[in-house]
Amino acid sequence: MIIDPLASEPKDVYKLLIGSIVPRPIAFVSSQSQDRINNLAPYSFFTGISANPPVIGFSPMKVKSDRDRDTKNNIKNTSEFVINIVSHGFSEEMNVTSADVSPDVDEFELANLTPIESDLVAPPRLKEAKISMECRLLQIVEISQKLLGGAFVIGEVVRFHVCDDIISNYKIDPDKLKPIGRMGGLEYTRTKDRFTLERPK
Ligand SMILES: Cc1cc2nc3c(=O)[nH]c(=O)nc-3n(C[C@H](O)[C@H](O)[C@H](O)COP(=O)(O)O)c2cc1C
Repeated sequence: MIIDPLASEPKDVYKLLIGSIVPRPIAFVSSQSQDRINNLAPYSFFTGISANPPVIGFSPMKVKSDRDRDTKNNIKNTSEFVINIVSHGFSEEMNVTSADVSPDVDEFELANLTPIESDLVAPPRLKEAKISMECRLLQIVEISQKLLGGAFVIGEVVRFHVCDDIISNYKIDPDKLKPIGRMGGLEYTRTKDRFTLERPK
């Protein structure tokens, strides 16, 4: 099947992308409004970009013509955020925070999750997360203001927090982290079925 994205509905192109780019890691992003209201939301259009310096990126999309995602507005205003990695143990709480609620709702409270103070940035990190990355905004690349158009938020990790019992010599144990990945539709995956490939010399 050959598909011309320009001749397709944006919602169908979105379905193609989220069904093809799988599994996707989930950035559970905490941010804070200028009035210091905490915000927490999952973003699976998420990737690492650079290790030196450590830089990550994720993409809030436009789903309402009159306003942007709260996460994007907060980061635009404060230039700080935290990426928390989602483990299977709090996937349902993560899902609760993806509800479309007004900016004055604190999603930590909504999902019964625990904010703890970050070291270097104002937004709190998530106590339940085994890995959190405190980030400072480098750039927001605006791709499109159309519905389902995205922006790419690029941030430098200025501090990592890793739970002591999942790390050894900088190596993270995935059996202890228990990360989940997002598939298409409403599906997720665990990461138990893994295999190894030696790199060619
Ligand atoms: C697992 C998961 C991944 C998501 N990934 C994205 C994403 O990459 N980009 C996006 O714009 N919305 C994504 N969403 C939807 C947002 O999380 C949701 O709309 C949320 O309410 C946005 O919150 P905010 O306005 O507080 O930033 C995702 C939802 C879930 C459950």
